[in-house]
Amino acid sequence: MNQSNLSLPFGCILRKATYGDQWSIRLLVFSAKLDPTQLDWQQFWVIECDQNLVACGQLRNFSGAQELGSLVVASAWRGRGLGTLLTQHLINTATQPLYLECLGERLAQFYSRFDFVPISFEDLPQFPRTKGLSPLKGKFRFSQLAKRLLRVPVVFMEYRGQTNS
Ligand SMILES: CC(C)(COP(=O)(O)OP(=O)(O)OC[C@H]1O[C@@H](n2cnc3c(N)ncnc32)[C@H](O)[C@@H]1OP(=O)(O)O)[C@@H](O)C(=O)NCCC(=O)NCCS
Repeated sequence: MNQSNLSLPFGCILRKATYGDQWSIRLLVFSAKLDPTQLDWQQFWVIECDQNLVACGQLRNFSGAQELGSLVVASAWRGRGLGTLLTQHLINTATQPLYLECLGERLAQFYSRFDFVPISFEDLPQFPRTKGLSPLKGKFRFSQLAKRLLRVPVVFMEYRGQTNS
């Protein structure tokens, strides 16, 4: 489903992150206890409301694939469509096959609204190595270990909707 008919609340803008956003982004990601690695501000998009950064999300680059990650909406701003808007924007911006990992059924349901479908670790494609970029499967291998050994409810998902690539 395309969620691009939503609009931002008054006073809010969606924009590419700038150098000055990097600590606000880290704070949002840490507060949501998400993966604290690869928080390169150049890869982020943010939503700013009344000059406060209230949401962020990024596209991490891997060989032959991208990962939609670090999606956080500040708790006071949740439930107003910001997460949906940002997710749809990241999907529209992606240029490579798109994947994500999330924790639990509720988040998997959230992403399935955008045509992400659950995929097993074994079925994740092994893209040819591109110079300077690591394989996505290598990163997801850690989560797969946590899933198997510690029963962490990780869900891997692949985007199967329309693409711009
Ligand atoms: C998931 C999240 C980004 C959604 O942002 P949002 O602006 O509240 O989302 P929207 O208002 O566009 O959509 C609401 C939907 O988000 C989902 N959602 C909201 N809070 C959620 C939570 N704590 N856990 C999982 N899903 C949640 C629900 O599907 C909800 O739909 P519903 O109201 O029909 O139940 C936000 O809850 C968040 O920042 N959570 C913490 C960080 C996180 O888990 N990020 C995802 C990493 S994979």
